[in-house]
Amino acid sequence: MNPQDYDFLRKLLKERSGLDLSADKQYLVESRLIPLARKAGMPGIAELVQKMKSGAETLTSEVVEAMTTNETFFFRDKIPFDHLRETILPTLLKARANRRSLRIWSAACSTGQEPYSIAMCLKERAQELAGWRIEIIATDLSQEVLEKAKSGIYSQFEVQRGLPVQLLVKYFTQIGEHWQISPEIRGMVQHRQLNLLQDFSHLGKFDVIFCRNVLIYFDQDTKTGIFGRLAKALEPDGMLLLGAAETVVGISAAFRPHPDRRGLYLLNQDKVLQSQGGAPPQRLRVVAAR
Ligand SMILES: C[S@@+](CC[C@H](N)C(=O)[O-])C[C@H]1O[C@@H](n2cnc3c(N)ncnc32)[C@H](O)[C@@H]1O
Repeated sequence: MNPQDYDFLRKLLKERSGLDLSADKQYLVESRLIPLARKAGMPGIAELVQKMKSGAETLTSEVVEAMTTNETFFFRDKIPFDHLRETILPTLLKARANRRSLRIWSAACSTGQEPYSIAMCLKERAQELAGWRIEIIATDLSQEVLEKAKSGIYSQFEVQRGLPVQLLVKYFTQIGEHWQISPEIRGMVQHRQLNLLQDFSHLGKFDVIFCRNVLIYFDQDTKTGIFGRLAKALEPDGMLLLGAAETVVGISAAFRPHPDRRGLYLLNQDKVLQSQGGAPPQRLRVVAAR
């Protein structure tokens, strides 16, 4: 690939998806885009870039999607789902006892294993949540992964990764060599296409946000901007879960790590108000002055 084409692709990917490619990732771009070029009837990346420059929007979206990393599996990393069961749900069940509603967002849901893992955790507490309005919104940039997520159909390999066998038996039906998640669990999740680089205030406020294993691909400024907007999308006592290799520390003052739950973040309410141009509440100003 010639350096000009690589620069064009780097810039485009940064603008469209936030992907921050270092100067030495040509091999990655080639391994993902040469098959796409061939599928579209072109000999290689030079022709693909030429076509994109001439304004081929569908092709450009396909290039952006092809460069996303969609790795995921059920109950990935286990700990976030322990936090959901042991810390987040008990806290919010009390805090929302009057309102009896919960809104959870799986931002960058990939092929759906994360939001369905959340849905199964909630279903396992069906008795306590009887009569509650539960919304799980699952979003991703890539239309292709969303189609798979919506189908709820997974291979034998995919259901063997992280999914306890009791939950497989309870919530999945075997269809030939594949497994489909039950309509009941599927119906708990709403899927939508959404780019985290763009405004998401229309989604409203959430009690819990899972934003895991996506910010790792972005540069610091992009992460800071997204954390600021995630903070505004959370209820004041809401909670954010990040991936094992991700943190807010040194990147955003809008959140602080939970004192003893790794990967779980709470809002720094005064910082969110400041970033919105509002004054911190009196109590917080007094504490800060001490
Ligand atoms: C590695 S997967 C993570 C899936 C899941 N959250 C997990 O932790 O297992 C990252 C996902 O982020 C999505 N993604 C990449 N850039 C995005 C963006 N700018 N906006 C929304 N989603 C994006 C990709 O399409 C991909 O499905």
